Amino acid sequence: MVDSAAGPVDLVILGGGSGGYATALRAAELGLDVSLIEKSKLGGTCLHRGCIPTKALLHSAEIADNIHESGNFGIRSTFEGIDIAKVNAYKDSVVNKLYRGLTGLVNNRGIELVEGHGRLVSPTSVAVGDRVISGRHIVLATGSQSKSLPGLEIDHRQVITSDDALELDRVPASAVVLGAGAIGCEFASVWRSFGAEVTIVEALPHLVPLEEESSSKLLERAFRRRGIKQHLGARFAGVKTTDDGVTVTLEDGTTIEAELLLVAVGRGPVSEGLGYDEVGIALDRGYVLVDHQLRTNVPTVSAIGDLRPGLQLAHVGFAEGIFLAESLAGLNPAPIDYDNIPRVTYSHPEVASVGLTSTRAAELYGDVVTHTYDLAGNGKAQILQTAGAVTLVAVPDGPVVGVHIVGDRVGELIAEAQLITNWEALPSEVAQLIHPHPTLSESIGEAHLALAGKPLHSHN
Ligand code: NAI
Repeated sequence: MVDSAAGPVDLVILGGGSGGYATALRAAELGLDVSLIEKSKLGGTCLHRGCIPTKALLHSAEIADNIHESGNFGIRSTFEGIDIAKVNAYKDSVVNKLYRGLTGLVNNRGIELVEGHGRLVSPTSVAVGDRVISGRHIVLATGSQSKSLPGLEIDHRQVITSDDALELDRVPASAVVLGAGAIGCEFASVWRSFGAEVTIVEALPHLVPLEEESSSKLLERAFRRRGIKQHLGARFAGVKTTDDGVTVTLEDGTTIEAELLLVAVGRGPVSEGLGYDEVGIALDRGYVLVDHQLRTNVPTVSAIGDLRPGLQLAHVGFAEGIFLAESLAGLNPAPIDYDNIPRVTYSHPEVASVGLTSTRAAELYGDVVTHTYDLAGNGKAQILQTAGAVTLVAVPDGPVVGVHIVGDRVGELIAEAQLITNWEALPSEVAQLIHPHPTLSESIGEAHLALAGKPLHSHN
């Protein structure tokens, strides 16, 4: 092995996903020398196997739904079917365009992109093939991968992960989706829109179980109406594969037959075999432990993104990358407010939230008030024919601490809700804001008007 001839750079980043490339872009902007190591393609899970391709599929699914439902809006149309090769070509073209743009950004900022499999070999160096790259600081950003359950073998044909699901060259006639987090609900939604028979199995009592219960229930109702079958509070017992499908058994003895089983029971850290242990980095079940500055127990090494315990979301990776680059450049960035991270499940309908659920708020504040504004009273929601609601969680006579929304396209509304919870606004303050009519965003204003004691298009 040879040491980098040029001597140590300021920053060596292992992993070019959302967290890693965001760190690189901001650090380079601030004048640091950066080497960014990526074994596959710049952009990581989010760009190539996650956020972007799944949302492209969801958009194709929305168009299929629009055609099926066009008669409700007075437009006669005939649904002729799904051309999955074209759906995939559209999805890939979106990914490729963003990939080219990202590669251009990284090149233009003078970041050295090192292609290859990196391994931490000391607190200040990473080996890539026979090259050792030294840095004054190392950032671990190797991300996450799909997990399975003990004894549940993924064969990538009939028992698949979300990576496999994105590469399918057909719409399955039927599918069992194990796990009703964001991945499970988004694929269930796409496949149903494309015409598959879909059954979701979730161990906890609700779909998207970490969300406000009322949001979960609205999604359950919407999915039931769409014909998506649900086994909630159901434990998976096993799966048998045959030539033409799978038979899934639940602990209560129920059996479900389908063409394939999607395993969506969470994602685990990618930290094995990368030298972290050997260099003495403290891990917990493979996750790299960090302090509030994102530093590991080894002072020259930080870790960000899905690799550290906590929310696994691309926008958290971006925020952590910016924070870390700024703090390593000697600035004093404001700490990341992990309590106010917006979350969106992009199913049909969408589920979006920010801040605390009513249960968590009650644990923290003792007493809370909530108000639910039904989208039935919102003009734009009626025009779009979408059902849903905005639920606010507030401290009595105090600020709004949680906003939970269900409905089509409500992911686009959650950024305003984040301003509200971040600002620690009182309901009366938000009620002062004028929302344009008719928009879905008005539902946020209406909910606050009602919570402030002056409901307009709703009952209190
Ligand atoms: P998840 O942890 O969000 O959900 C997994 C679900 O599987 C949980 O509800 C869990 O109760 C259930 N489960 C676990 N074991 C089970 C069993 N034996 N039987 C039945 N159900 C079982 O994980 P998911 O959906 O795989 O996503 C992984 C990560 O990626 C998450 O952090 C998620 O937030 C993120 N992600 C975010 C997206 C978004 O923001 N739209 C989209 C896709 C993923």
